[in-house]
Amino acid sequence: MKLLRLFLYLRRPQRIGFIEKMTEVPQLDLNNIPKHIAVIMDGNGRWAKERGQDRVYGHHEGVVSVRELVKACAELKVGYLTLYAFSTENWNRPQHEVNALMELLVNTIRREIDELNSNNVVLSIIGDINSLPENCIKEMREAEALTAKNSGLHLIMALSYSSRWEIIEATKKIASQVKAGQIAVTDIDEKLFEQNLSTAHIPHPELMIRTSGEHRISNFLLYQLAYAELYFTNVHWPDFRKEHLAEAIINYQQRERRFGKTSEQIQTNSTDHAGIS
Ligand code: FPP
Repeated sequence: MKLLRLFLYLRRPQRIGFIEKMTEVPQLDLNNIPKHIAVIMDGNGRWAKERGQDRVYGHHEGVVSVRELVKACAELKVGYLTLYAFSTENWNRPQHEVNALMELLVNTIRREIDELNSNNVVLSIIGDINSLPENCIKEMREAEALTAKNSGLHLIMALSYSSRWEIIEATKKIASQVKAGQIAVTDIDEKLFEQNLSTAHIPHPELMIRTSGEHRISNFLLYQLAYAELYFTNVHWPDFRKEHLAEAIINYQQRERRFGKTSEQIQTNSTDHAGIS
């Protein structure tokens, strides 16, 4: 019982006061920052409802959190940040909410382009881009082109994205290559499969954060999250600030990432035995 209490104490969420600069948080190990962080930005609707407002108000406030997160990740030299901004399933929301989200995306990208450039951020979009409204596609493509030469944080926005869609698309591409005689069935391995995902050339996320208390992955990067550390917080997305990012990273840094090996192997840096746990 005492041991359990000690374990829970050690695993308790870190509470961090107001942060000026991410790099000055003493509990953060700057040598162990995840290279790729993926985020399910959940809770905009509930946050707005709690304030007697329309759900769309929550999405607008969610942009403030996105801005802060991008800046904080750039400061910490996180390599990649993937944001689940609109899922394939989100098309089923009331039309006025879908329209408002599309408008918000277009306006935000247009407004933030200079800020992205001044923070040296490269923007990429993943998902079924062609299903987006014409003006949205145009704006996203322009923004990708305008930031392509930057060399800092790679910001990936998942738009009209779902993992099952992505996996099926990859399967179709591979099947066509086999049919055309470009590859043999025996050539199909993890490397080839990953090259056909929309995240080809992007390392898998090491940390996945979901806000607002739900403990689900919701069709997000199912393949890529295989070994990610999952972090759930009750904070609604519009309230998410750099202090919460710091808490998530500190929690990540306290975990032992075993990749199927034993704890002893990890501690002695052994590479002699691979498996799955
Ligand atoms: C989930 O909250 C959030 C979304 C479906 C949209 C996320 C969009 C933003 C944060 C704003 C735009 C982002 C960018 C990058 C410009 P929810 O509506 O499902 O909340 P609920 O679970 O409380 O209903």
